[in-house]
Amino acid sequence: MKQEELQAIASQLKHPSGEKGIEMANMMNETNINMTHHSIQNLNISSSNKILELGHGNAGHVEFLLEQAKDLKYYGLEMSDLMFQEARQINRNFVSQKQAFFSLYDGNLIPFQDSFFDKIFTVNTLYFWQKPEELLSEIYRVLKPNGTFCLTFAEESFMKTLPFTQFEFELYSTEKAQNLIERTSFKIVYKETLTEKVKSKTGELVNRDYTTIVLEK
Ligand SMILES: C[S@@+](CC[C@H](N)C(=O)[O-])C[C@H]1O[C@@H](n2cnc3c(N)ncnc32)[C@H](O)[C@@H]1O
Repeated sequence: MKQEELQAIASQLKHPSGEKGIEMANMMNETNINMTHHSIQNLNISSSNKILELGHGNAGHVEFLLEQAKDLKYYGLEMSDLMFQEARQINRNFVSQKQAFFSLYDGNLIPFQDSFFDKIFTVNTLYFWQKPEELLSEIYRVLKPNGTFCLTFAEESFMKTLPFTQFEFELYSTEKAQNLIERTSFKIVYKETLTEKVKSKTGELVNRDYTTIVLEK
């Protein structure tokens, strides 16, 4: 594949847009659904929780999340206008029932008051954070005391085998993510690395290592 094509894939993963963006978002939701469900399950969601997700893509998993307990409220934040629109469309029933709320933000400042959320999670976005320490501090700020944050990402050892990650991506091993977290006020309460088989861009099955780190305020 040409360098420009690899760069285009990386840009779409970082910020889905245009005609190709919707296609890419469907593919992402499907390929990453295990990682997303795993992150949600590690949140230990209980009734009436307010839950924030950063970088939901098309948010095809919101129904699964809302089934975890009663009276949940889901809040999604995105930087891509296309994903914001697509997520609202796919989840229009939950939006009209005021169970799901979607907003755009700048990737740095989380537009909610202090201690607003019981649970926060994000899947496959860490690679694109512009100021990782500052964003973690923002996540800490909007989380309630004893609240849980799940950070889920594919391991650097796997990601660096994908040719497009040379563009746009900052790759993380568990150790590198832990070093980042240790520079914030979060406590690490649990971490797990799993391996799953996923279909590569060229169609064959490959082993993907991914990690969820569970943090507490
Ligand atoms: C690779 S996709 C992952 C989507 C979905 N979470 C998944 O795992 O399939 C990354 C998504 O995060 C969004 N994004 C990138 N940087 C972000 C940030 N700093 N905060 C929130 N979302 C971000 C992008 O617009 C894109 O929709």
